[in-house]
Amino acid sequence: MQLLLLRQAKQLLFKSHFVNLKKSIMLLSPKEKKRLYHQYGPCALVTGASSGIGKELAEKLASAGFDLIINARNENNLLAVKASIQSKYNVQVDVIPIDLSIEGNTDVLIQRIHHKNIGLVVLAAGYGTSGLLKESSLHTEINMLRLNCESVLVLSHYYAQRFSEQKRGGIIFLSSMVAFQGVPYAAHYAATKAYIQSLAEGMSEELMPFNVSVLAAAPGPVVSGFGSRANMTMGKALSPEQVGVPILNALGRSGTVFPGWLTKLLVYSLRTLPRWGKVKVMKQVMSGMANQTRNETILIN
Ligand SMILES: NC(=O)c1ccc[n+]([C@@H]2O[C@H](COP(=O)([O-])OP(=O)(O)OC[C@H]3O[C@@H](n4cnc5c(N)ncnc54)[C@H](OP(=O)(O)O)[C@@H]3O)[C@@H](O)[C@H]2O)c1
Repeated sequence: MQLLLLRQAKQLLFKSHFVNLKKSIMLLSPKEKKRLYHQYGPCALVTGASSGIGKELAEKLASAGFDLIINARNENNLLAVKASIQSKYNVQVDVIPIDLSIEGNTDVLIQRIHHKNIGLVVLAAGYGTSGLLKESSLHTEINMLRLNCESVLVLSHYYAQRFSEQKRGGIIFLSSMVAFQGVPYAAHYAATKAYIQSLAEGMSEELMPFNVSVLAAAPGPVVSGFGSRANMTMGKALSPEQVGVPILNALGRSGTVFPGWLTKLLVYSLRTLPRWGKVKVMKQVMSGMANQTRNETILIN
């Protein structure tokens, strides 16, 4: 009986240790909060902050004391994020609802915030498409290109100049693990992320001498609003909480981060394949994820 109790106590202890460990991985350490605020504070611009990865990064930055400017299209969702953050942290949150896929709107955002003392920008606004590219709406593909690439170029170009002048700052780009090879059934989305990955890698080296950190965050599948907009089923996926802290911990320490255990597993398991081999594997993976393609395959079969 005593042995049984001892075993149960050990199991409980192990379980609670594991839960605590999991929780601590999802929280910024006090040292990290200090480092981030000192190097990139006092204010951060986060695009795509109303949902998923952007929202998680905004919350974590607020926990480190950053004032925030948060952007997305839907004002009510942004106001809900603002209320949630301000119920927990004593920071200022400015809400700027603007559609960054519309030509000229990114400049409007820049003009509205140019007087702010921003040290960090997180460029998380973005979405994906899936299915056969030849059958997709060209209008939607061009809209995605404008948001995922053009607006990111405009913002990163502006803040590269600002941060170089002030000799400090950080830019976080949202790349993806699909950025490293062609991806059938998400061909154009993967191409937008290849653009982001390449832009971030190049800018990282260019801005290093000016004490400006550039990070490409390349997650694998994450449960967020992304799946439904891209019409993809995210099978095994991480939560935004599992990728937020690893991304912020990597800022200023590396050029690219593959945040979360699942991302690392997927990236490292593909690493030894030649590029054409990776494309073949991604075709298999994506045909399971892209709903449109899967339904068509089922119909043909
Ligand atoms: N989820 C994944 O599996 C995954 C993996 C790798 C990389 N990523 C990348 O991570 C980034 C964030 O994605 P997520 O997973 O967090 O998706 P999400 O939950 O759908 O969040 C996207 C955010 O972008 C905003 N947004 C969308 N269209 C916009 C527009 N035209 N103008 C301004 N804001 C806009 C959305 O708010 P509104 O709808 O209100 O505008 C939302 O706040 C994206 O760049 C995505 O490509 C995602």
